[in-house]
Amino acid sequence: MNRRFALVGTGARAEMFVQAITASPAAQLVAFCDTNEHRMAVHNGWLPAPVPTYAAGDLATMLARERADVLIVTSVDATHAGHIVTALEAGCDVITEKPMTTDAAGCRAILDAIARTGRQVSVAFNYRFNPVHERVRMLLAEGAVGEIGSVHFEWLLDVRHGADYFRRWHRDKANSGGLLVHKAGHHFDLVNWWLGTAPAEVYASGKLFFYGENGKRHGYAREYDRVHGSPAATDDPFALHLADNPRLRSLYLDAEQLDGYHRDQNVFAPGVTIEDDMAVLVRYDTGATMTYHLTAYSPWEGYRLMVNGSRGRLELEVVENDHVSPSAAGSLKGAAVHGMTENPEHGHRRLTLHPFWEPAREIDLPSSPRGGHGGADERMTAVLLGTATDPLARSATARDGALALATGLAANESLRTGAPVAVKDLALF
Ligand SMILES: NC(=O)c1ccc[n+]([C@@H]2O[C@H](COP(=O)([O-])OP(=O)(O)OC[C@H]3O[C@@H](n4cnc5c(N)ncnc54)[C@H](O)[C@@H]3O)[C@@H](O)[C@H]2O)c1
Repeated sequence: MNRRFALVGTGARAEMFVQAITASPAAQLVAFCDTNEHRMAVHNGWLPAPVPTYAAGDLATMLARERADVLIVTSVDATHAGHIVTALEAGCDVITEKPMTTDAAGCRAILDAIARTGRQVSVAFNYRFNPVHERVRMLLAEGAVGEIGSVHFEWLLDVRHGADYFRRWHRDKANSGGLLVHKAGHHFDLVNWWLGTAPAEVYASGKLFFYGENGKRHGYAREYDRVHGSPAATDDPFALHLADNPRLRSLYLDAEQLDGYHRDQNVFAPGVTIEDDMAVLVRYDTGATMTYHLTAYSPWEGYRLMVNGSRGRLELEVVENDHVSPSAAGSLKGAAVHGMTENPEHGHRRLTLHPFWEPAREIDLPSSPRGGHGGADERMTAVLLGTATDPLARSATARDGALALATGLAANESLRTGAPVAVKDLALF
């Protein structure tokens, strides 16, 4: 039987779900909901046949009138909890983008609504579906390094991708929870899943070092508020030119007169309340520990993971791009490098097992599938829409969403107080 899907939040990320639903024989798209009528019309224009659209305040009406079975939530992070609870109360299941929500109250409201209604929430942690991350999970589950004592994990966002969090709603912690919730939530979820653990205590130290008003100190700042219409932004490598990209123009520039959402703010303009450089120390319920660092202003993009165990050590290095080409500065991650037939940016992946008293062994990795996030997006939507099986238990539940959030929220609290935070004191569960 076809399940009926409605979607709230018709921005950029919505398209991945819309395409998967419209291509699936087991799913039917029945309606859109958003605060911005123009963005819903743009998405409808991409469909073979438009679906009904509803204002954000009419979400419950939409779910009832369109007889939705499942709500997809791809709106601004801080709005997730309200939409999820409304859908659960309406008898729907929910697939939500990460983070599940941005604060402890929202998390408790979601878990309570699940208990009350018996409905399900899946969190779209697509990084679990990356074949390299699946390989790490399998190796650790097979005991390749024995019992795990500690993890060292460093994630670098380059000055193209990292900068994008400082151009729009993410730059306000009230919207996104900051990068420890919005971005590192992916990484904290991976570690929970890889190790089969839950965080117990978290200490964090972080700051806004590069973006915002620091741009003056480092010599990058230009005097303008937003790029569109600002001569000072013309040759700024940090500027995103919405008018040059038909998709960005239609989704954001042509829609902004309705809600004043400027997608192209100056990353060095005042008003940033999130951090761009964060160090986190986590103790897990198994006794394992993690040292983690997220940097959002790196010259190259990728990550390094090291897992120390009772039988050896596993090391993963992924370089997604070794530099940001000058011709691609001011574009978005994954965008074509303008005027180049060949992308000058290079990457590599290396997974190495170091057993005790043996030479290191490089682990064969599956070739990178095509598609969003290293093929992870397509693999995830196939499982979430019920057209593929999930033997590795990659699909994340609301509890998984809460556990990923637990590390980020505890880290944020630690930033605020300067002290370690016991996860149980957040009273999420
Ligand atoms: N897993 C991933 O790899 C990944 C990648 C990108 C984005 N995301 C997630 O997807 C979500 C959307 O991100 P995006 O980049 O598409 O953002 P976006 O700004 O392009 O879209 C957000 C949409 O939400 C709408 N909106 C704002 N307030 C609303 C409300 N109260 N009710 C209904 N709609 C509202 C906006 O009008 C906009 O259309 C976020 O939660 C983000 O974390 C996940």
